Amino acid sequence: MERLSYEVEGRVLHLSHPTEMNITWVGQQDLLQQLLAAWITFDEKDIPLNPRIIGKPGVGKTTLAYTAGKSLNRDIYIFQGTIDTRPEDLIIIPVIDENQKIKYAASPLVSAMIKGGICIIDEGNRMSEKSWASLAPLLDQRRYVESVVAGIKIPAHPDFRVCVTLNEDASTFEIPEYISSRLAPQIFVDYPEYEEEFRIIAENVPQANDELVDYVVSFLQDAHTTQDAFSIRDGINITRYALRLLKNNCITGEKKFSIKKKNRKKKIIHLEKEPIKDKKKENEFTSDELINATIQSIQMVLGTEATVYFSEEEY
Ligand SMILES: Nc1ncnc2c1ncn2[C@@H]1O[C@H](COP(=O)(O)OP(=O)(O)OP(=O)(O)O)[C@@H](O)[C@H]1O
Ligand SMILES: [Mg+2]
Repeated sequence: MERLSYEVEGRVLHLSHPTEMNITWVGQQDLLQQLLAAWITFDEKDIPLNPRIIGKPGVGKTTLAYTAGKSLNRDIYIFQGTIDTRPEDLIIIPVIDENQKIKYAASPLVSAMIKGGICIIDEGNRMSEKSWASLAPLLDQRRYVESVVAGIKIPAHPDFRVCVTLNEDASTFEIPEYISSRLAPQIFVDYPEYEEEFRIIAENVPQANDELVDYVVSFLQDAHTTQDAFSIRDGINITRYALRLLKNNCITGEKKFSIKKKNRKKKIIHLEKEPIKDKKKENEFTSDELINATIQSIQMVLGTEATVYFSEEEY
């Protein structure tokens, strides 16, 4: 796909393409509203806030930011922060084109700044302080970045909005104070309650029947109360793989497991009063098959230790 070009201070920049994802945020509408509130401006002199979204891996931070941006009908540009991100990667990098000439490729962040789109700086605390330093003027009233490589200053379009997702895990850096004070407010994404988590998994794996989703969510809910940081993403993977094991007829469980009684919330009965989707009948399996598929999938997705949330007694 040809990159769009755009001229700034006499330099031709080649812009990145926005990211299209087929994801929608389910539940916790207050978080969506809090994020959108941060982006409001009251007049042309006013500037938006630059929220930071925090929470454990896989709880839906990127999904939240993407859905908020899409709800404003804007293009979304995602910049993935990594340990190797250099300051120029965030702004403009020189590339050699087919005629051996230098071309200036704008990062997703700068492309969003030029087009008036929304940039999600994803997993921002995987980047070092050096990379963050170049963004200080963008995140206050100045709203511009400078490219050392191209020797230009790039102002942000008034419609440009940015948010940052930060991860709570070991492979991250501390964000310097002068940057984190520019990344406000802080929006905390926590694990959802049973019913919401049920809807999220059902939405993401529409082929799964309610009973299978119930087993997976009951497992996740119990794990959320412990040190095990199993996430919604893990739940989605477990459900998707369990379905495939069932479809391929390769459930190997010799022992019969049951879900610990205390973990079964049985709220499914309530949910069935307002069906999430019409489940296809051909996906119906017996409870034994579904439980064993769940266990086997958990073992293969997360490891055998993860099955402590199931009891091994016969049922
Ligand atoms: N509230 C939700 N609505 C819909 N899908 C969700 C929700 N929360 C999580 N998911 C799904 O869970 C998976 C993980 O979500 P996402 O990638 O947004 O998490 P994350 O917090 O950004 O993860 P990471 O910390 O690894 O970057 C995705 O498949 C996403 O669609
Ligand atoms: Mg993410």
